[in-house]
Formats: sequence, C-alpha cells, structure tokens
Amino acid sequence: MFTSKYKISDEKLTKDSVYVLNNGMKMPVIGFGTWQIRDEEVAYLSVLAALRAGYRHIDTAEVYRNEAAVGRAIKDSGIPRKELFITTKLFNEHVTYDDAKNAIAASLARLQLDYVDLYLIHWPNPLPARKDYVTRNKEVYRAMEEAHFAGKIRALGVSNFWPHHLDALLKTVKVLPVVNQIYLSPSDQQEKVVRKNDELNLVSCAYSPLGTGKLLNEPLLLKLSEKYQKSVAQILIRWSLAHGYLPLPKSVTPTRIVENLNVFDFSLSAEDITAIDGLHGIVGLAADPDTREF
Ligand code: A2P
Repeated sequence: MFTSKYKISDEKLTKDSVYVLNNGMKMPVIGFGTWQIRDEEVAYLSVLAALRAGYRHIDTAEVYRNEAAVGRAIKDSGIPRKELFITTKLFNEHVTYDDAKNAIAASLARLQLDYVDLYLIHWPNPLPARKDYVTRNKEVYRAMEEAHFAGKIRALGVSNFWPHHLDALLKTVKVLPVVNQIYLSPSDQQEKVVRKNDELNLVSCAYSPLGTGKLLNEPLLLKLSEKYQKSVAQILIRWSLAHGYLPLPKSVTPTRIVENLNVFDFSLSAEDITAIDGLHGIVGLAADPDTREF
C-alpha cells in the first residue's frame, strides 16, 4: 500500500508531532473528530474532555450542528487560541459566492472565534449543485480565499474530493488547498485519492479511522491488539499514522478519548501494517461523491 510523503518516522513521532502543510503551517497529527456528535451537551463535554486530554486539533463542520458546543468548550478550556488548530467545513446547500461568504461568517459566530485554522469545502459534488459542481466549487472557494486574505481562515482545503474534482478546482484557485479530508481506514484505502493528494502536496486527513467503529471487532485486529497490548482503536490510529495520514477519531466516551491519543509508546511492524492493508473493503467503502444523495 501507498505511504504518504508526510509520514513521520516511528522514532520521531510523538504526541507533539505536527505535519508541516504546503503553506508552512503546522497541524497536529491527530485531531478530535466530532462527526455524529449531534447532542449539544454531549458535544460540549466530549470536546472539553478532548482538550483536557491533550488534543489541540478539533475537527467540526456546519452540518454536524455542533459548532456552538465546540466553541463553548474551546472557551471554557482556557487554552490559548494560538495553541489550537480548529477546522470547520462549508455545507452542501451553499452554492454561490455570497452563500459561502455568509456561511463562513455564521460558522465563526457559532464557534465564537475570530478565525479558524482550516476551512474545507465539505463535499465536491453536492446535490444542490449537481448540474455544475465545477462552477459551484470555484465560486465558494473564491469566497474562502477572500476570507483567508481578511484573516478569518488561515488555510483552505477540501473534503471528500476525488482526483477529477481536485483537477477541476485547481484550475481556478489562487491559494492552494493544504488538505483533502476523506473517509480513510483499512476498509477503504482510497489509493487513487491518497496518491493524488500527495502529488498535490495535500495532507490526507482520515475521518472515521475506526471505520465508524465497524472495524473494532475484526479478528486480525483483535489478534494484533493482544500482540501489542494496545486496543484495536489504538492499532487503527497507529496504522493511519504509519501511512502518513492524519487520523480524526471520534468518541463521546472520556476513557476512549484519552486512549485514542495514547498511541505514541508503540509502533507496528512492517508485516503487521501490510496485514492490516489486506483488510480493504472488509466493512465497506466510501460513498461516491458524484452519486450519493447528499
Ligand atoms: P463512542 O463515541 O460511543 O465512544 P470513527 O472515529 O471511525 O468514526 O469511529 C467512531 C466510533 O468508534 C464511535 O462509535 C465510538 O464510540 C467508537 N470508538 C471510538 N474510540 C473507541 C475506542 N478507543 N474503543 C472502542 N470504541 C471506540
């Protein structure tokens, strides 16, 4: 399987490691994912637990409907803003330059932040723009660039883009994207996308690195869990890092939130990484962004 050029060697990888993005910014190598934490109070408590556990990178999105809770948790954590890396995303219903401009302002207001570190186009070919997603992405990205120049967004990126979506967008951008966040786990290794990401100097950020939890009872992984005396979740997070990806594990359970960051005291052997690579397809593949009803 493919390994990204962003990979940090086992000897150098620590809890403070960062990937240096193509614009020079630094991004902590594990982020706390908040997809599917809809309940306001649960989201607040989970993000606060993550920040207290040592996460400094939080990933949210307008469509997760938890930006306000994330913002409150950030504020109540007392952690200086500049120590944090906060990502949010533009939802599918925003299809014009003006829509995007308003959406950026609304996200910042909900998050109670003056700026986000990273802002992504959530979906490359959303239902409301399926007739002409190329123009839609060009227009919303223009609004993102403007917000970037105004100091409201430090870096720009995309999510769920496949190579043809990237090629189309890159024809018109002034500010290069820095990441492509995709569904990326042993069960869908998205080889064409991760290769393209590397070619374009984009970090491959991995949402659902545990296969939305579906991989946790996989016999091979349970065996490796025994061998390394680490949980299956920790094995999967380490597998993601071993490929040079940026895992974004989600949990609402305080012990698991801590556990998922505690992956820097072991490393997987090359043979075991290859064995895990063999799980491609085992619990399903990522949705096709051109046909999914989203
Ligand atoms: P919960 O949130 O109830 O703790 P993914 O990050 O791939 O989307 O996976 C998220 C799912 O995996 C959630 O159901 C989450 O449960 C579960 N999960 C997250 N971390 C762990 C862990 N360390 N051990 C077991 N299950 C976990």
